[in-house]
Amino acid sequence: MSEPNMPDTKGREMQSIVERITSLGVVPVIELGSVEQAAPLLEALCAGGLPSAEITLRTPAGIEAIPLLRRSHPDALIGAGTVRTAEDARRAIDRGAQFVVSPGTDLDVIAVCRAQGIPVLPGACTPTEIGTAVKAGASLVKFFPAGVLGGVNFLKAIAGPFREVRFVPTGGVSPDNLAEYLELPAVAACGGTWLAKPAMLADGRYDQIEKLASEAMAIVREARHG
Ligand code: 3PG
Repeated sequence: MSEPNMPDTKGREMQSIVERITSLGVVPVIELGSVEQAAPLLEALCAGGLPSAEITLRTPAGIEAIPLLRRSHPDALIGAGTVRTAEDARRAIDRGAQFVVSPGTDLDVIAVCRAQGIPVLPGACTPTEIGTAVKAGASLVKFFPAGVLGGVNFLKAIAGPFREVRFVPTGGVSPDNLAEYLELPAVAACGGTWLAKPAMLADGRYDQIEKLASEAMAIVREARHG
């Protein structure tokens, strides 16, 4: 989706972030138990070839980790997730979030992101919500919770009327079904927690995170260039 009505530079920056999300193909959804987990987590993701993280605001560590990661890993793509209010969107963007993900279609969150020139991925799971999200300026639409709402079959069914919309299915995505999603032209990337579950972070299992990231990137390559 292009970025209409944006000043050229901001529009291009937003487009380039959307292109990076799409090119990586996977958005690791992260719930940090502590801010100390952030840097080793991102090291592991980068070592696995996936220099990106959606740091959720579900724990207080999330909002603190965003500026730390922007400084420690300036080449990685750091977004904020579980952004449910305009205030949280502002806080996350002020701290350096490069993209914002929301569980639902909240028009205030979308408006804040648009005004600041930050790509926004609102959650949507019905044709009406998808239409509303796109009209409000969604950069990509997070199809959530994908698995329980029909997964790949849902996306195939709505690709007719919403053919210009690119989705990030999230919820129930795993290495077992990642390729199936990525093979759909409507899918820009998939999101999920499988790469770095809170228990892996709590136990310091960064090797496992690196391995899962590397496996995910192999699946992306195979699905796209087979
Ligand atoms: C999310 O927060 O986006 C979802 O809870 C991720 O779902 P998953 O745990 O099934 O990947």
